[in-house]
Amino acid sequence: MTQDELKRLVAQEALKHVVEDKVVGVGSGSTVNLFIDALASIKGRIEGAVAASEASAERLRRHGIRVFDLNSVAELPVYVDGADEVTEHLHMVKGGGGALTREKIIAAVAAKFVCICDASKRVPVLGKFPLPIEVIPMARSYLGREMLKRKAQPVLREGFKTDNGNLILDCHGLTILDPPALEAELNQIPGVVTNGLFARRGADVLLLGAPGGVQTLKRKG
Ligand code: A5P
Repeated sequence: MTQDELKRLVAQEALKHVVEDKVVGVGSGSTVNLFIDALASIKGRIEGAVAASEASAERLRRHGIRVFDLNSVAELPVYVDGADEVTEHLHMVKGGGGALTREKIIAAVAAKFVCICDASKRVPVLGKFPLPIEVIPMARSYLGREMLKRKAQPVLREGFKTDNGNLILDCHGLTILDPPALEAELNQIPGVVTNGLFARRGADVLLLGAPGGVQTLKRKG
């Protein structure tokens, strides 16, 4: 099976977690794009969606799925999103597409986070994929120096602005042994809007596309 076929498989499987007549949270990225396409087949059975990026919102609308502002949604039973890396503890690195802040907000609101990805995203330790950090532009250099102190090599994502008008530093060379601790620590650096560690609120369910079919992992405890 190709990587795209594995992504399509988990995108389809995620439909089983969608709650009828409710709003569903939708992340961003290529796997989520396939989930949006799959969601179109049951669009008459959901109230609509909230989206983590302008690109996802646009794709949902093109399928005729109503897109809500998160502020007008009181209840969000499920959020479906991809990841750049994920561990067996369902901690993730996200933000490869730059939508990490909105993704983290919707994940916080949702009762259940369903992560969908192909098996290549599963890792024993997070950090090989450069950790994205969204930063207010005037704090860019300060954050860079702070990350150097933490033995990371920060690289400005060239020519990129987030949907919120900020910058992204991609931080290479980290070996993240305690994701919840590092997530909290980075959040304390002035100017940081969001870091791409999703560990304090990790996924509840991971649907991993592997050649033998979909593997389902659930958060313990
Ligand atoms: C977007 O900002 C990310 O968090 C995505 O969830 C992540 O990059 C996964 O994308 P793919 O499904 O394209 O691999």
